[in-house]
Amino acid sequence: MNNESNQIIEHKAHGGKRIAVYPGSFDPVTMGHLDIIHRAARQFDTLVVAVLNNLSKKPLFSVEERVEQLKQVTADLPNVEIDSFRDLLANYIREREAHVIVRGIRSVTDFEYELQMASINRELNPDAETIFMMTNPRYSYLSSSMVKEIARFDGPVSDFVPPLIEQEMRVKFGHTSA
Ligand code: PNS
Repeated sequence: MNNESNQIIEHKAHGGKRIAVYPGSFDPVTMGHLDIIHRAARQFDTLVVAVLNNLSKKPLFSVEERVEQLKQVTADLPNVEIDSFRDLLANYIREREAHVIVRGIRSVTDFEYELQMASINRELNPDAETIFMMTNPRYSYLSSSMVKEIARFDGPVSDFVPPLIEQEMRVKFGHTSA
């Protein structure tokens, strides 16, 4: 048996659970993210969806709001946990005793950035493996920024985000009251 397969067995032996982390900004969570969450949750014992608390960015939704939204839209998935982090992802992964980072890839444009990030994370935490999942082609053009742009102008977003997020964006952009 080679070293890599040994490593996989060790990871599984660690607490007996395979824990993966799906990190992101989720500002807001889209159908594309949700699709990845559903598919990744089937592959691991626990999937931690981790919202980055990036103090240098001005998000539409606060971290607390995003965590609450994610909790509500994943309430039907018992092995999905929602958390937030403000550290380096590599450190957070260690802290959570996880060994897998899940990222979705929509297109070749995503690939370069993801490759760079996966390589840096491998340097910082060689014990963590980044696994890529191809986004469902239905959502390959979707991004949180595009969705926000449409919602800002009161355009239709019901195909792109869960109803809860659509409603909360309407409120944020002043198109309806809470
Ligand atoms: O949804 P996003 O914005 O594409 O997610 C990016 C995210 C949050 C996964 C990435 O920015 C991240 O992990 N930030 C934490 C800081 C860090 O570890 N940076 C070094 C790796 S590039």
